[in-house]
Amino acid sequence: MIILKTERDLEQMRPAGAVAATVLEEVAAFVKPGVTTRQVDQFAAERIRHHGGKSAFLGYRKYPCHICISVNDEVVHGLANDRQLRFGDIVSVDCGVIYKGFIGDTARTIAVGGCGVAAQRLMDVTQQALAEGVAQAKAGNRVTDISRAIQTYVEGNGYNVVREFVGHGVGRTIHEEPQVPNFVDAKSNQRLRPGMTIAIEPMVNAGRPGVKILKDGWTVVTQDGSLSAHFEHTVLITEGHPEILTWPAQTPSKLKVA
Ligand code: MF3
Ligand code: CO
Ligand code: CO
Repeated sequence: MIILKTERDLEQMRPAGAVAATVLEEVAAFVKPGVTTRQVDQFAAERIRHHGGKSAFLGYRKYPCHICISVNDEVVHGLANDRQLRFGDIVSVDCGVIYKGFIGDTARTIAVGGCGVAAQRLMDVTQQALAEGVAQAKAGNRVTDISRAIQTYVEGNGYNVVREFVGHGVGRTIHEEPQVPNFVDAKSNQRLRPGMTIAIEPMVNAGRPGVKILKDGWTVVTQDGSLSAHFEHTVLITEGHPEILTWPAQTPSKLKVA
């Protein structure tokens, strides 16, 4: 069942998205060479608490961390540990926050200090693939219109989308219907309707699309060891352009007047 959000729901879901996006921005600024992924997780936990939210991931199916931190060939669901981030690594941070009963879910891949051109191109293509998907997220279109836009863009640039993990509806719980695959799948072809809130999240491998799960039971890595990137926004379907909910709030003090 797809849960349509009312205007009242959205009044709460917008701030949830803003908190998730703000935490992700803060975490991105914290990531630098020498920092361990556990320190990144602890920093995220502190920022989520500071903004009055709770991690939507901690405890979900016994997930043990506050955010997901996936480095280089890790695709998603990377666990925090003693690994030190190094200059040139690319790290995907996925941040799900519960705030006043609703969830914002957003992710991005960040270069640690800087990175090579191949890694930068992978990140650019994945971020643009998200934009291509979001552009199709409007009432009257179908889920496959989003999926096709992402898949076509990614494969047109010589990369591959991951099949085993998909985007999803999101609201009071992290994973609601419908599933939003990053490839055309006839099983996921629901009509998009105003009030639907969905997380669109291309996971893109530089090499083959295959993935495997490490012995920790969580960390998803590329089978061929190639780099992977991940960008995600929670968006609201409207009659017109989609509204990106996971956008950092602009407080008046941040606005610069010429
Ligand atoms: N990566 C997932 C998403 O964005 C959520 C991770 S759930 C966790 O939908 F438990 F693995 F953290
Ligand atoms: Co996410
Ligand atoms: Co998600």
